[in-house]
Amino acid sequence: MAAATIEPLHRDFGARVAGIDLGATLSAHDLAAVRDAIDRYSLLVFPGQSLDDETQLAFTRRLGEPEVEHVRFGREGAIDYFGTVGNIGEDGGRRGNDHETTRFSRGNEMWHSDSSFREVPAFVTITYAHETPEEGGETEFASCRAAYARLPDALKAEIGPLTAIHDYVFSRGRVAPVAASHAASLPPVEQKLVRTNPATGARNYYIGSHAREIVGRDREAGRRLLDDLLARATREEDILSHRWSPGDLAIWDNRCLLHRGRPYDADRQRRRMRQNRVRGAGPTLEE
Ligand code: OGA
Ligand code: MN
Repeated sequence: MAAATIEPLHRDFGARVAGIDLGATLSAHDLAAVRDAIDRYSLLVFPGQSLDDETQLAFTRRLGEPEVEHVRFGREGAIDYFGTVGNIGEDGGRRGNDHETTRFSRGNEMWHSDSSFREVPAFVTITYAHETPEEGGETEFASCRAAYARLPDALKAEIGPLTAIHDYVFSRGRVAPVAASHAASLPPVEQKLVRTNPATGARNYYIGSHAREIVGRDREAGRRLLDDLLARATREEDILSHRWSPGDLAIWDNRCLLHRGRPYDADRQRRRMRQNRVRGAGPTLEE
């Protein structure tokens, strides 16, 4: 097989990877290259892949323990590793702008880190594009590692010891009602505000729409800090916008990246991506 080639996509993070077939069993060498590239680039895009749920899950298991998808688990107690991103139902039908699940997924249009509201948050998210819209529906990314590196030293010192409360009902309740059983399965959790990559020692701050408040600060002062950190990470020049093509597989590191979905017209276009995640190493408070 051709050697993998890695082409950076943005000055701070992100890379396109060619020469690796993720549907085949990866060699130990390629697996190590993928792991290193996650630590280094935070976002990897592998175009031209050919996967189904089974091969996607097999690849996921090479990276770690699959995370149980929280929506179906919280609502029905069902164990499933995948979620469908987009507007296509299980019967293949298109769901329009007013459909309940289309509205529910608009919560993804706020900057966030996947599963930051879980006690053990996600390591990476893996998303494979089956059908993609012609217009809109990009996913945007921003690096809280690059943003941390740009902070003045005094602010780095100020945020170092802090923690934040992350709360799914706080963030998503603003967009659509959260079912009572789902809400009960996701109590608010405390997360470190500054995290360190265990392999490289690189630091980043850990925020996003689920971050509700800073522990030990009044609500408004905490919000000002969280909003300031978000603004510093998501200036226009900091953002990498990924326009999806069918066959793209993206892996993003939720420990240090923020992402958000961009709108598209669900009445006119089809968007279908299958997504799963790898569980993090443990609670951030124990890192
Ligand atoms: C997600 C998500 C963004 C998008 O599914 O976790 O944030 O572009 N999606 O749909
Ligand atoms: Mn997400």
